[in-house]
Amino acid sequence: MIIAQRVNNIKPSFTLQMATKAAEMRSKGIDVINFSVGEPDFNTPNHIRDAAKNALDQGYTKYTAGPGMIEFREAICTKLDRENGILYKPSDILVSNGEKQSLYNVCQAILNPGDEVIVFAPYWVSFPEFVKMADAKPVLVNTLSENNFEPDFSDLESKISPKIKGVIINSPSNPTGGVWNNDAIINLLKLAKKYNWIVISDECYERLVYDGNFTSIEKLNQIHKISANVITCMSLSKTYAMTGWRIGYAAGPSEIIKAMSKIQGQATSCANSIGQRAGIAALLGDQTCVEKMKSSFIKRRDFILELLNNLEGINCAIPNGAFYAFPDFSAYLNRKGNNKLLKDTFDISEYILDSVQVVTVPGDGFGAPGHIRFSYATNRGIIKEGMNRVKKALNEIEE
Ligand SMILES: Cc1ncc(COP(=O)(O)O)c(C=O)c1O
Repeated sequence: MIIAQRVNNIKPSFTLQMATKAAEMRSKGIDVINFSVGEPDFNTPNHIRDAAKNALDQGYTKYTAGPGMIEFREAICTKLDRENGILYKPSDILVSNGEKQSLYNVCQAILNPGDEVIVFAPYWVSFPEFVKMADAKPVLVNTLSENNFEPDFSDLESKISPKIKGVIINSPSNPTGGVWNNDAIINLLKLAKKYNWIVISDECYERLVYDGNFTSIEKLNQIHKISANVITCMSLSKTYAMTGWRIGYAAGPSEIIKAMSKIQGQATSCANSIGQRAGIAALLGDQTCVEKMKSSFIKRRDFILELLNNLEGINCAIPNGAFYAFPDFSAYLNRKGNNKLLKDTFDISEYILDSVQVVTVPGDGFGAPGHIRFSYATNRGIIKEGMNRVKKALNEIEE
């Protein structure tokens, strides 16, 4: 066998597949509406693009220090202090090729074969796979959809074992858009401290919280003097519309950061130099662009929510963060569309795609049967047309 077992053990990135499918249909001239996008539709703000152009002209085109340019790590420390109220030294920071690599690095750095990591369902598709790539096992724990998809603590308690080494938190969440209450996070931090779990906090949507303020998990850890081990992973992708630049970072105990840096050093050396220079402008520059994008997202959220909740049989909780709505489509399960039985949300999404050319992401892929993810990182006109089409498709499903 040519291909290693490791490859068979993991699933391909399922959301990327949906995006690819949409792109393929569009290239064939099909008028597709795409609600599967996991990135802002805005261009990177001007002052950040200018910083990248200057970086090229000034010769920032070489390898940087493995953990990231010192000036960029200093900028990250400034930002973490200013936005999150947490103090770090540059030596506690590791810059990576997108936060995805930060998360991969943490799992590689802390997990041994046989270790277990708590992953809350619905989960971002990559979490279980990062854990499996480190030869460890994801332990899926339920959340309560009626409660911002916060942890079901009784389910969690029933799954505690000495094998658990870590827990992954993602608030605001992809795919649900849910933002956990501080109380839920504090409870979880206390459990992490009690059982010695490392908390991996994916905060890539930290700046996209709509009602109320976001508090970093490490900040709560400090305020409440819990002293759990927290690794905070953040990204420039969603906040500054910089998904293609591939710049993310991790902040945490220097022992873990050093181990992650060692792994990264032998994998990709450093993140790209131009992106890091642009990152300095993003983090230290004018933040009005972030507020502008956020206010567009709120309007779009409210718009799609109204349209979704007007659909027959659909119920969608208010997502308080990120740019996803995660309505419950279970009223359409086990009915027929185009003469085919709709057994799960893969079938419903496929039916919607085939009948009205709208791409959505089935919740079954996120460990959330019955739900479908709609990204509203797209303009109002597209949201309106897309939802009209979805309505038409649903109306044609047999009782
Ligand atoms: C929950 C979550 N974490 C991490 C990432 C990765 O972000 P980056 O572009 O920084 O790799 C994404 C991107 O979709 C995400 O949704």
